[in-house]
Amino acid sequence: MSYSMFYNEKVLEHFLNPRNVGEIPDADGVGTIGDPTCGDYLRVYIRVKDGRLVDVKFKLYGCPAAIGTSSVTTELARGKTLEEAYQIAEEDIIKALGGLPDQKIHCSVLGPAALRLAILDYISKSRPQTPDGQQSEN
Ligand code: FES
Repeated sequence: MSYSMFYNEKVLEHFLNPRNVGEIPDADGVGTIGDPTCGDYLRVYIRVKDGRLVDVKFKLYGCPAAIGTSSVTTELARGKTLEEAYQIAEEDIIKALGGLPDQKIHCSVLGPAALRLAILDYISKSRPQTPDGQQSEN
């Protein structure tokens, strides 16, 4: 079966021309997640300025749907506040792509999950440190 019989045009377009692929050197936050059932694996990098995601990039080992959903996750997240980006859900990704085949819905979980982990990583790194290098509870 060809991909075009399975995925809609928008998914195929993101699969063939994924946006924001790569790493951000010295990223402000990094989130990594894998799907143990299929072995696909996604890492998301974020750059934060004044509480907004000014850059979002990803690297992935995964299926066409994971490539498309990761690509669109980075597009949706760019320019958003940390809080807005944290709220991006798999339904938003599927909607932005105009739908996914039922058996590929699970692939849309990776993007938002890795993005949330990257945001949490940023937040944990930006907590004030005590003089002995420990993170403050405040
Ligand atoms: Fe694993 Fe698509 S089959 S994320």
